[in-house]
Amino acid sequence: MQNILTIEQLSKSFTLHNLNKQIKAINNINFSLKEGEFIGITGKSGSGKSTILRCIYRTYLPQEGSIWYNSKKFGPIDLTKANAREIIYLRKREIGYVSQFLNVMPRTTARELVKQAILEMGYEEDFADKETKKMLEHFELDPELWDSYPATFSGGEKLRLNIARAMVKRPRLLLLDEPTASLDSVSKVKVKVLIEQLMNEGTTMLGIFHDLEFMKNLCDREYNIQDGQFAYFTS
Ligand SMILES: Nc1ncnc2c1ncn2[C@@H]1O[C@H](COP(=O)(O)OP(=O)(O)OP(=O)(O)O)[C@@H](O)[C@H]1O
Ligand SMILES: [Mg+2]
Repeated sequence: MQNILTIEQLSKSFTLHNLNKQIKAINNINFSLKEGEFIGITGKSGSGKSTILRCIYRTYLPQEGSIWYNSKKFGPIDLTKANAREIIYLRKREIGYVSQFLNVMPRTTARELVKQAILEMGYEEDFADKETKKMLEHFELDPELWDSYPATFSGGEKLRLNIARAMVKRPRLLLLDEPTASLDSVSKVKVKVLIEQLMNEGTTMLGIFHDLEFMKNLCDREYNIQDGQFAYFTS
Protein backbone atom coordinates (compact mmCIF):
# COMPACT_ATOMS: atom_id res chain seq x y z
CA MET A 1 0.00 0.00 0.00
CA GLN A 2 1.08 3.52 -0.76
CA ASN A 3 1.75 6.10 1.91
CA ILE A 4 -1.01 8.65 2.18
CA LEU A 5 0.95 10.73 4.68
CA THR A 6 4.70 11.04 5.29
CA ILE A 7 5.91 13.32 8.05
CA GLU A 8 9.59 14.19 8.14
CA GLN A 9 11.56 16.06 10.79
CA LEU A 10 8.55 18.00 11.97
CA SER A 11 9.19 20.57 14.70
CA LYS A 12 6.95 23.24 16.11
CA SER A 13 7.75 25.67 18.87
CA PHE A 14 5.87 28.56 20.38
CA THR A 15 7.21 31.85 21.61
CA LEU A 16 5.73 32.99 24.87
CA HIS A 17 6.29 36.70 24.49
CA ASN A 18 5.27 37.64 28.00
CA LEU A 19 7.86 35.25 29.44
CA ASN A 20 10.37 35.81 26.64
CA LYS A 21 10.62 32.04 26.32
CA GLN A 22 10.37 29.36 23.62
CA ILE A 23 8.45 26.12 24.08
CA LYS A 24 9.25 23.18 21.81
CA ALA A 25 5.86 21.51 21.45
CA ILE A 26 7.12 18.83 19.05
CA ASN A 27 10.69 18.06 18.09
CA ASN A 28 11.80 16.08 15.03
CA ILE A 29 8.72 13.90 14.51
CA ASN A 30 8.96 11.29 11.73
CA PHE A 31 6.29 8.81 10.71
CA SER A 32 4.11 7.70 7.86
CA LEU A 33 0.61 6.40 7.36
CA LYS A 34 -0.32 3.89 4.70
CA GLU A 35 -3.62 4.11 2.91
CA GLY A 36 -6.36 2.55 5.03
CA GLU A 37 -4.25 2.42 8.18
CA PHE A 38 -5.38 3.57 11.60
CA ILE A 39 -2.60 4.91 13.80
CA GLY A 40 -3.06 5.93 17.40
CA ILE A 41 -0.99 8.54 19.23
CA THR A 42 -0.69 8.28 23.00
CA GLY A 43 1.17 10.36 25.54
CA LYS A 44 0.56 12.43 28.59
CA SER A 45 -1.05 15.85 28.65
CA GLY A 46 1.12 18.53 27.07
CA SER A 47 3.38 16.05 25.26
CA GLY A 48 2.50 17.45 21.82
CA LYS A 49 -0.24 15.14 20.50
CA SER A 50 -2.70 17.81 19.39
CA THR A 51 0.11 19.90 17.93
CA ILE A 52 0.88 17.11 15.44
CA LEU A 53 -2.74 16.94 14.27
CA ARG A 54 -3.00 20.72 14.09
CA CYS A 55 0.12 20.88 11.90
CA ILE A 56 -1.41 18.31 9.53
CA TYR A 57 -4.70 20.24 9.38
CA ARG A 58 -2.59 23.39 9.07
CA THR A 59 -4.16 25.14 12.02
CA TYR A 60 -0.48 25.46 13.02
CA LEU A 61 2.39 26.15 10.68
CA PRO A 62 5.52 24.24 11.78
CA GLN A 63 8.96 25.90 11.70
CA GLU A 64 10.71 22.83 10.32
CA GLY A 65 9.90 19.65 8.47
CA SER A 66 7.50 18.47 5.83
CA ILE A 67 4.11 16.78 5.75
CA TRP A 68 3.66 15.02 2.43
CA TYR A 69 0.03 14.18 1.78
CA ASN A 70 -0.95 12.18 -1.27
CA SER A 71 -3.99 14.12 -2.43
CA LYS A 72 -6.58 12.72 -4.79
CA LYS A 73 -6.86 16.08 -6.52
CA PHE A 74 -3.37 17.56 -6.28
CA GLY A 75 -1.17 14.46 -6.07
CA PRO A 76 1.71 14.61 -3.55
CA ILE A 77 1.51 17.93 -1.73
CA ASP A 78 3.52 19.28 1.22
CA LEU A 79 0.89 20.57 3.63
CA THR A 80 3.42 22.88 5.27
CA LYS A 81 3.80 24.68 1.93
CA ALA A 82 0.34 24.38 0.38
CA ASN A 83 -1.42 27.66 -0.30
CA ALA A 84 -4.66 28.76 1.39
CA ARG A 85 -6.83 27.80 -1.57
CA GLU A 86 -5.41 24.26 -1.59
CA ILE A 87 -5.86 23.89 2.16
CA ILE A 88 -9.47 25.05 1.97
CA TYR A 89 -10.16 22.55 -0.80
CA LEU A 90 -8.52 19.70 1.13
CA ARG A 91 -10.47 20.50 4.29
CA LYS A 92 -13.72 20.49 2.33
CA ARG A 93 -13.09 17.36 0.33
CA GLU A 94 -10.30 15.18 1.64
CA ILE A 95 -9.12 15.78 5.19
CA GLY A 96 -11.46 15.71 8.18
CA TYR A 97 -10.71 16.80 11.70
CA VAL A 98 -12.54 16.26 14.95
CA SER A 99 -11.04 18.69 17.41
CA GLN A 100 -10.62 18.16 21.11
CA PHE A 101 -12.64 21.30 21.77
CA LEU A 102 -15.63 22.24 19.66
CA ASN A 103 -15.87 25.76 18.41
CA VAL A 104 -19.34 26.15 16.99
CA MET A 105 -20.27 28.59 14.31
CA PRO A 106 -22.79 31.16 15.45
CA ARG A 107 -26.29 31.14 13.97
CA THR A 108 -25.96 27.80 12.21
CA THR A 109 -28.24 25.01 13.37
CA ALA A 110 -27.05 21.47 14.05
CA ARG A 111 -28.86 20.25 10.94
CA GLU A 112 -27.32 22.97 8.75
CA LEU A 113 -23.81 22.22 10.03
CA VAL A 114 -24.00 18.57 9.06
CA LYS A 115 -25.79 19.26 5.78
CA GLN A 116 -23.23 21.88 4.81
CA ALA A 117 -20.45 19.35 5.34
CA ILE A 118 -22.12 16.98 2.86
CA LEU A 119 -22.89 19.68 0.28
CA GLU A 120 -19.20 20.70 0.36
CA MET A 121 -18.41 17.22 -0.93
CA GLY A 122 -20.46 18.04 -4.03
CA TYR A 123 -23.58 15.98 -3.26
CA GLU A 124 -27.16 16.96 -4.13
CA GLU A 125 -29.60 18.55 -1.68
CA ASP A 126 -31.87 15.49 -1.38
CA PHE A 127 -29.01 13.16 -0.59
CA ALA A 128 -27.58 15.65 1.90
CA ASP A 129 -30.92 15.93 3.70
CA LYS A 130 -31.22 12.14 4.01
CA GLU A 131 -27.64 11.62 5.16
CA THR A 132 -27.93 14.44 7.69
CA LYS A 133 -30.99 12.81 9.22
CA LYS A 134 -29.27 9.40 9.33
CA MET A 135 -26.21 10.80 11.04
CA LEU A 136 -28.12 12.85 13.63
CA GLU A 137 -30.22 9.79 14.40
CA HIS A 138 -27.17 7.56 14.67
CA PHE A 139 -25.66 9.81 17.31
CA GLU A 140 -29.04 10.05 19.05
CA LEU A 141 -29.08 13.80 19.02
CA ASP A 142 -32.55 14.71 20.33
CA PRO A 143 -34.66 15.78 17.28
CA GLU A 144 -35.69 18.86 19.24
CA LEU A 145 -32.09 20.02 18.97
CA TRP A 146 -31.71 19.53 15.25
CA ASP A 147 -32.92 23.01 14.35
CA SER A 148 -31.38 24.86 17.26
CA TYR A 149 -27.99 26.45 17.66
CA PRO A 150 -25.22 24.27 19.10
CA ALA A 151 -23.89 27.14 21.24
CA THR A 152 -26.25 26.05 24.02
CA PHE A 153 -25.65 22.29 23.66
CA SER A 154 -24.03 20.28 26.44
CA GLY A 155 -20.38 19.24 26.02
CA GLY A 156 -21.35 15.72 24.95
CA GLU A 157 -23.98 16.97 22.50
CA LYS A 158 -21.47 19.33 20.90
CA LEU A 159 -18.93 16.56 20.62
CA ARG A 160 -21.41 14.17 19.03
CA LEU A 161 -22.37 16.84 16.52
CA ASN A 162 -18.71 17.54 15.81
CA ILE A 163 -18.03 13.87 15.13
CA ALA A 164 -21.16 13.55 12.97
CA ARG A 165 -20.10 16.55 10.90
CA ALA A 166 -16.61 15.16 10.27
CA MET A 167 -17.62 11.55 9.63
CA VAL A 168 -20.51 12.25 7.31
CA LYS A 169 -17.99 13.40 4.70
CA ARG A 170 -16.24 10.02 4.71
CA PRO A 171 -12.94 11.90 4.24
CA ARG A 172 -9.86 10.16 2.81
CA LEU A 173 -7.88 11.12 5.90
CA LEU A 174 -9.56 11.65 9.25
CA LEU A 175 -7.80 13.25 12.21
CA LEU A 176 -9.40 12.49 15.56
CA ASP A 177 -8.35 14.41 18.65
CA GLU A 178 -9.80 12.62 21.67
CA PRO A 179 -13.23 12.26 20.05
CA THR A 180 -14.60 10.18 22.90
CA ALA A 181 -13.18 12.07 25.87
CA SER A 182 -16.43 13.40 27.31
CA LEU A 183 -18.84 10.77 26.02
CA ASP A 184 -20.80 8.16 27.95
CA SER A 185 -20.27 4.49 27.11
CA VAL A 186 -23.30 4.28 24.79
CA SER A 187 -22.07 7.23 22.71
CA LYS A 188 -18.56 5.76 22.66
CA VAL A 189 -19.93 2.60 21.10
CA LYS A 190 -21.67 4.73 18.45
CA VAL A 191 -18.37 6.39 17.61
CA LYS A 192 -16.69 3.00 17.45
CA VAL A 193 -19.30 1.63 15.06
CA LEU A 194 -18.72 4.54 12.69
CA ILE A 195 -14.94 4.31 12.97
CA GLU A 196 -15.17 0.65 12.01
CA GLN A 197 -17.48 1.49 9.13
CA LEU A 198 -15.06 4.14 7.86
CA MET A 199 -12.15 1.70 8.22
CA ASN A 200 -14.04 -0.81 6.09
CA GLU A 201 -14.59 1.88 3.48
CA GLY A 202 -10.86 2.56 3.39
CA THR A 203 -10.59 5.82 5.33
CA THR A 204 -7.13 6.43 6.77
CA MET A 205 -7.22 7.63 10.36
CA LEU A 206 -4.87 9.21 12.85
CA GLY A 207 -6.33 9.39 16.31
CA ILE A 208 -5.52 10.53 19.81
CA PHE A 209 -7.45 8.60 22.42
CA HIS A 210 -7.78 9.21 26.04
CA ASP A 211 -9.33 5.80 26.46
CA LEU A 212 -6.52 3.36 25.70
CA GLU A 213 -8.69 0.26 25.77
CA PHE A 214 -10.99 1.81 23.19
CA MET A 215 -8.03 2.59 20.97
CA LYS A 216 -6.06 -0.64 21.28
CA ASN A 217 -8.79 -2.72 19.68
CA LEU A 218 -9.01 -0.41 16.69
CA CYS A 219 -5.51 0.78 15.82
CA ASP A 220 -2.99 -0.92 13.57
CA ARG A 221 -0.08 0.82 15.32
CA GLU A 222 0.46 3.02 18.31
CA TYR A 223 3.00 5.81 18.67
CA ASN A 224 3.80 7.09 22.12
CA ILE A 225 5.01 10.65 22.43
CA GLN A 226 7.01 12.07 25.34
CA ASP A 227 8.04 15.71 25.53
CA GLY A 228 7.45 16.29 21.84
CA GLN A 229 9.29 13.20 20.59
CA PHE A 230 8.23 9.67 19.77
CA ALA A 231 9.32 7.39 22.57
CA TYR A 232 8.29 4.05 21.12
CA PHE A 233 5.74 2.46 18.89
CA THR A 234 3.94 -0.84 19.03
CA SER A 235 2.04 -2.72 16.40
N1 LIG B 1 -0.99 27.95 20.60
C1 LIG B 1 -0.07 27.65 21.54
N2 LIG B 1 0.66 28.61 22.14
C2 LIG B 1 1.60 28.33 23.05
N3 LIG B 1 1.87 27.08 23.47
C3 LIG B 1 1.18 26.06 22.91
C4 LIG B 1 0.16 26.30 21.92
N4 LIG B 1 -0.34 25.10 21.55
C5 LIG B 1 0.31 24.17 22.27
N5 LIG B 1 1.23 24.75 23.09
C6 LIG B 1 2.13 24.05 24.03
O1 LIG B 1 2.71 22.95 23.36
C7 LIG B 1 2.76 21.81 24.20
C8 LIG B 1 2.02 20.65 23.55
O2 LIG B 1 0.63 20.96 23.50
P1 LIG B 1 -0.44 19.95 22.90
O3 LIG B 1 -1.75 20.66 22.87
O4 LIG B 1 0.07 19.43 21.59
O5 LIG B 1 -0.45 18.78 23.96
P2 LIG B 1 -1.35 17.46 24.05
O6 LIG B 1 -0.41 16.30 24.07
O7 LIG B 1 -2.39 17.47 23.00
O8 LIG B 1 -2.01 17.61 25.50
P3 LIG B 1 -3.50 17.18 26.02
O9 LIG B 1 -3.46 15.70 26.22
O10 LIG B 1 -3.63 17.92 27.31
O11 LIG B 1 -4.49 17.62 25.00
C9 LIG B 1 2.18 22.25 25.53
O12 LIG B 1 3.25 22.58 26.39
C10 LIG B 1 1.36 23.46 25.19
O13 LIG B 1 1.29 24.36 26.28
MG1 LIG C 1 -4.46 17.64 23.03
